Amino acid sequence: MRDFRPEIQNSRFVLRRYQADRGLVNAWLRDALRFGREVPVRLARAMRYAVLGPGKRVRPVLALESFRAAKGRDEEHVRPFCCGIEMIHAFSLVHDDLPSMDNDDFRRGRPSLHRKYDEAVAILAADALFAYAFQLFSFSPAPRAPRLAAIQAISRAVGPAGMAGGQMLDIATRPGLSRPGLERLHRKKTADFMAAALVAGAALARVRTRVLDRLWEAGRALGLLFQVTDDLLDAEQESDGKRMTRVSRYGREGTLKRAVQQAHHAEQLFRSLGPGYDLLAGFPRLILERTS
Ligand code: IPE
Ligand code: IPE
Ligand code: MG
Ligand code: MG
Repeated sequence: MRDFRPEIQNSRFVLRRYQADRGLVNAWLRDALRFGREVPVRLARAMRYAVLGPGKRVRPVLALESFRAAKGRDEEHVRPFCCGIEMIHAFSLVHDDLPSMDNDDFRRGRPSLHRKYDEAVAILAADALFAYAFQLFSFSPAPRAPRLAAIQAISRAVGPAGMAGGQMLDIATRPGLSRPGLERLHRKKTADFMAAALVAGAALARVRTRVLDRLWEAGRALGLLFQVTDDLLDAEQESDGKRMTRVSRYGREGTLKRAVQQAHHAEQLFRSLGPGYDLLAGFPRLILERTS
């Protein structure tokens, strides 16, 4: 994934900022997952295991950076959203790995949650993470209207028309799915949630609807790119032979070409929002070049 056109700036600054943001999000998550005696110890441990492993934190970092790009001031307003977004992501991965879904024994280089504990604990910890995320959102100190806008964007993106729907399409997919069909699946499964993370961050900073619409578009492009790079990485590791991916359908070269186009498209969309969004405009390249 290295043959990207040189005219897109590869900024060390973007990478450093992403790494710093990831550190901040990790600290916030550790804090948010400290529970008192009201939460059974085994459940709390399982929730922490699912979330605090070595994840990339792409979605909460997108929410944080779009809040900043939109000139949001008090980061306490976006903090519960960053935490909840990562918890929803972790919940989706726990379910995705279950024997009745992808039946994966490993996640983030460690035993998946149902292998570390058992299936019942994994299901309950995922349930708890999903609900706890919305508890965090509702208690954010952000004013009511932007808080509600952010919650709406996220809930829609992970619900029946979004991630849950995409996962449903994924388990039902047979070889021979059309290109638009595969793109629809990826949009629902992966891209909408990334778009929602961006929209939520900017909504909390109270930007205009026009900007939110453009961010949604950019987020979708970024999410599709992310899924394509995921398929390329999976193909390199030959770990997902059973799953219908873009690589199994169009080959590595065709998929790489598509990824480069998508990265350009996403970058242009971010740049069209003005210089405040330059940092986010560096993310497509970061994703294109990722190795994990
Ligand atoms: C993996 O997401 C699942 C997809 C939607 C492709 P990530 O690649 O963001 O997973 P972590 O959080 O870094 O482990
Ligand atoms: C996971 O998708 C996506 C969601 C949980 C929504 P995949 O099954 O394609 O991703 P990996 O390969 O397990 O991370
Ligand atoms: Mg899956
Ligand atoms: Mg999977």
